[in-house]
Amino acid sequence: MNGGRGGVRGFIARWRGRDIELKTRGELDAMRVAGALVARTLTVITEAAKAGVSTAELDALAEQTIRDGGGVPSFLGYHGYPASICASVNEQIVHGIPAADQVLADGDLISVDCGAIVDGWHGDAAVTIPIGAVSAADLALSVACEEALHAGIAAVQPGGRLTDISHAVQKATEAAGERDGVEYGIVAEYGGHGIGTSMHMDPFLPNHGEPGQGPRLVPGMALAVEPMLTAGDPETRELDDGWTVVTADGSRAVHWEHSVAITDDGPRILTLP
Ligand code: MF3
Ligand code: CO
Repeated sequence: MNGGRGGVRGFIARWRGRDIELKTRGELDAMRVAGALVARTLTVITEAAKAGVSTAELDALAEQTIRDGGGVPSFLGYHGYPASICASVNEQIVHGIPAADQVLADGDLISVDCGAIVDGWHGDAAVTIPIGAVSAADLALSVACEEALHAGIAAVQPGGRLTDISHAVQKATEAAGERDGVEYGIVAEYGGHGIGTSMHMDPFLPNHGEPGQGPRLVPGMALAVEPMLTAGDPETRELDDGWTVVTADGSRAVHWEHSVAITDDGPRILTLP
């Protein structure tokens, strides 16, 4: 347990009066177990996500996979959230609630976000899955977001600053847009976060901005890096269900996420299979 206070190295880092949880190597190994279960669940979901399958079926499969793996779904009951995954289809960006009447169709683009707790440690990751034959533009959007995620992860370096990650995500998004001849939107209202003994911890991690700001990145920190990109304007709207976030202009959106630890050797992705 991290019972230490007062910025003791090995327990807590402080940034403007807010605590950032620091994990020991053994604790990161424990987070890796939770992360692997999340990754396995997303692999199972990716294989099952086909035209004709409902997002409620995917949710049931995710809950089963997490529980069979000795974990607890962290989303279920989180501030009243009613499911074990977020399933965000097409113009839905994040926090889409799985539903029996949301049946996947050929050409859909679905982002699945999943979290699990094992032995008190959290893992959180998301993938975007193309259903059948999606448009080239939609595939490119998803590739751009995955590239932005990995550019962000590459900036998770000891001695760096938090917004080095934000800046890397933005730069990679811009580069992908130039290559693809389009201007991708970066969702600003949502972003990454610290993770460990809770799913959402300090610090908040924006997906754009100047580098060199925010807390210094030190070994033992763990962050969920999660860019959300839109094909059109990145302005968001929340649906009446109180959860689902959609693009205001109805354009398509994608979401990729990994939980990543900072180590002396650089980034350690915790949510790999
Ligand atoms: N993994 C999501 C994120 O970091 C959290 C989902 S919130 C829930 O944005 F309530 F849906 F669980
Ligand atoms: Co997250």
